[in-house]
Amino acid sequence: MNITIIGVGYVGLVTGVCFAEMGHNVTCLDIDTQKIENLQNGILPIYEKGLQEMLVNNKKRLRFIADYDKALATTNACFICVPTPEQEDGSCDLQYVEMAAKSIAKSMTGDLIIINKSTSPVGTAAQIKSIIENELSTLCKNISFSVVSNPEFLKEGSAIEDCMKPDRIVIGVENTRARQVMKEIYASFNIKNNRMLFMDIASAELTKYASNAMLATRISFMNEMANLCEKVNANINDIRLGIGSDQRIGPDFLYAGMGFGGSCFPKDVSALIAFATQNKIEMPILSGALETNAKQKKIMGTKVKKYFESSFENRIKIAIWGLSFKPETDDIREAPSLVLIKDLLDDPKFELSLYDPIAMSHVKRQVQHEKVIYCSSEYEAAQGAHAIILVTDWKQFRFADMKKILQSMQGKVFFDGRNQYSACEMEKIGFTYFGIGLQNKKNPTQILQSLKEHSNARVKK
Ligand SMILES: NC(=O)c1ccc[n+]([C@@H]2O[C@H](COP(=O)([O-])OP(=O)(O)OC[C@H]3O[C@@H](n4cnc5c(N)ncnc54)[C@H](O)[C@@H]3O)[C@@H](O)[C@H]2O)c1
Repeated sequence: MNITIIGVGYVGLVTGVCFAEMGHNVTCLDIDTQKIENLQNGILPIYEKGLQEMLVNNKKRLRFIADYDKALATTNACFICVPTPEQEDGSCDLQYVEMAAKSIAKSMTGDLIIINKSTSPVGTAAQIKSIIENELSTLCKNISFSVVSNPEFLKEGSAIEDCMKPDRIVIGVENTRARQVMKEIYASFNIKNNRMLFMDIASAELTKYASNAMLATRISFMNEMANLCEKVNANINDIRLGIGSDQRIGPDFLYAGMGFGGSCFPKDVSALIAFATQNKIEMPILSGALETNAKQKKIMGTKVKKYFESSFENRIKIAIWGLSFKPETDDIREAPSLVLIKDLLDDPKFELSLYDPIAMSHVKRQVQHEKVIYCSSEYEAAQGAHAIILVTDWKQFRFADMKKILQSMQGKVFFDGRNQYSACEMEKIGFTYFGIGLQNKKNPTQILQSLKEHSNARVKK
């Protein structure tokens, strides 16, 4: 089938390349002409494992252009994969989707299935339909078309794998013709198991938000539990295993850390709350999840400042390992590292040495500061540092030679924002180790004190 992808970002490019891998002829279109020129020369705009190889292998079935007329001339189906960012009030900004819909209407020449993959609220498919109808009528074009909702669930870092072997393919359709075309498009992804879930358009649009909101809430819940663990000398890792082994809960997405980031969870949860509010429905659980997340992003900065509060040094060098919002991606949108960097730079005594295997150039564009240096490895960043903070759990950090690293440092503190290391092993090596939601063996009196304060308060009541 001839497929056009509109918007060649994380979702559009991966989807386009995977469709080509499955035998479709794919035209990828973007309004960013530099991006298109680079892609024509084999230069990718994003980092995603396996993408470069797959693009090269399928170059016969892939073309990259910036012209809507050419892109839609012979296409049967066109996927909208443009951004849907957050507006100031938290709601979803549909301007790029609307622009894409108008451009499609202007350039379409024959029957077309238009599939919205951008995450957008209930009513968006209807809005796309109405924009195209109006535009076609103004241009006196008599063309039939259908709009489908097919939200995307891929995860940056494992996007190719997720796209080639999706857990499910959610499709909201309103007629049998569109249903048939969607079946043909996804036929090769569906050979072993039928992963297609057909439903009405509104339910498909809402499924994507419900999924991200559920995952974000799980993370915030575990972070709240982790903070309680630190107060009462319990261990969040044991609790994670204890609850994750319950089949009703399951083991995934139960890791405490420095809060969720990325281009999806924060904006999608905000958009769902805003959409519910417009419909006079309150979603206090989700507002709580966002509030907890905002606090969690500040937790490591607070710990570090507290640790060095009484230090006599007037310059304290902190190494930060990992800047992307999660491993295996170069995406830094809403990354906890950015909040931490800002918090520490606000305090005159801290200077920072930063390292990330992939995302450094993006951070460099945002953070240029006399107290910041960018390093070429985790070893270089640690050199002469008083403390290391692990923010993103890139695999390579797990295998770093910690003895060598400790020897090269000025101090010996390790703040582990992802609970990647064993506290016991790190202390054996000589580090003073802090994780998230772990037991603080050094300070049991603090826990007794807080329990005492609590019972005194109850007696007073
Ligand atoms: N990134 C993810 O992990 C992910 C996962 C699932 C769903 N989504 C959703 O998919 C959508 C796209 O996200 P993304 O991360 O791929 O965005 P992105 O910012 O990486 O890429 C979007 C691309 O669309 C292009 N574009 C904007 N307006 C256009 C127009 N009118 N015509 C043609 N091209 C246009 C931009 O130039 C850009 O290259 C969003 O709604 C997002 O919420 C993203």
